[in-house]
Amino acid sequence: MSESKKKPIVLTIANNKGGVGKTTAAAAITHLLSLKGKRVLLIDTDPQGNCAQQFGIDSTDDIGLLGELLLDRVNRNSDAKHAPLENYIVKSPVVPEIDVLSGGKPLNKAVYTVIFAVNSVVAANVFRRIMKEADMYDYVVVDTSPSFSSFTDAVFMGTDWVLAPMLPDKNSIDGVNTLFKYLAPIREEGEHDIRVAGVFFNQANDRSRALHEFEPLIREGWKDDVLKTKIPVNPAAVAGAINDDQPVTLKYPVAKATKAYKKLVEEVLARVEA
Ligand SMILES: Nc1ncnc2c1ncn2[C@@H]1O[C@H](COP(=O)(O)OP(=O)(O)OP(=O)(O)O)[C@@H](O)[C@H]1O
Ligand SMILES: [Mg+2]
Repeated sequence: MSESKKKPIVLTIANNKGGVGKTTAAAAITHLLSLKGKRVLLIDTDPQGNCAQQFGIDSTDDIGLLGELLLDRVNRNSDAKHAPLENYIVKSPVVPEIDVLSGGKPLNKAVYTVIFAVNSVVAANVFRRIMKEADMYDYVVVDTSPSFSSFTDAVFMGTDWVLAPMLPDKNSIDGVNTLFKYLAPIREEGEHDIRVAGVFFNQANDRSRALHEFEPLIREGWKDDVLKTKIPVNPAAVAGAINDDQPVTLKYPVAKATKAYKKLVEEVLARVEA
């Protein structure tokens, strides 16, 4: 696939619940895809900017390059000359093979304003159109905020596959349910389907009562959408890597969580490249 110029596979990590491991997964998957020789663009759409931070890029106090790009592309009909996508992308100082497009802290607010200020159809499709410009990549991995908005709608409109981490607890499972319900009307409106790359348990301790209680129910309910791989609880590695502004897979290549993420990536690739 690397030689041909075609649309990248856009993989968005989402759950309508905070703290379930979206950012950790987005950073790990981005890094592992790059190790496999894939050309990857990471887009951090969460104003917290924690995923970009794991690749050595701090969130700014303005709208960031992602915000500028969105504003520029939404105002596409103006006569101004539009800079190419490359101008908004930075190379990770941590993993130079990885390109990053990230916003700043006021990103959601700025984009929200724009969404309502301009033609809403253009705004809703802005992310999808930007993905068409990203044809130099094999994959675009998108980290998202747990709260949904018109901006998240636009991100989903440009998404091919959704991957949802969840903790073995009721609230984060509810968060996935809400995500699926939320996606339904966007799927109907969009030009292409948004498919489920998988739902997976994060911080899964095989001896925990919660996992024993929830796992059979979830597997029965969501069937093949639930990935076989579970990411174990591994605070020393995961928190240690975050503290060092690195993906866990880079900082701790043989940690339990890294080994699990490697399996998870194989499962996801088997689906999205089938
Ligand atoms: N496998 C794991 N083992 C132990 N701790 C973990 C694991 N995965 C994530 N964590 C911890 O859980 C917390 C939340 O993780 P993360 O930031 O990836 O979640 P998130 O879904 O992106 O959160 P938010 O909704 O705020 O963006 C972090 O403190 C992280 O260190
Ligand atoms: Mg996050």
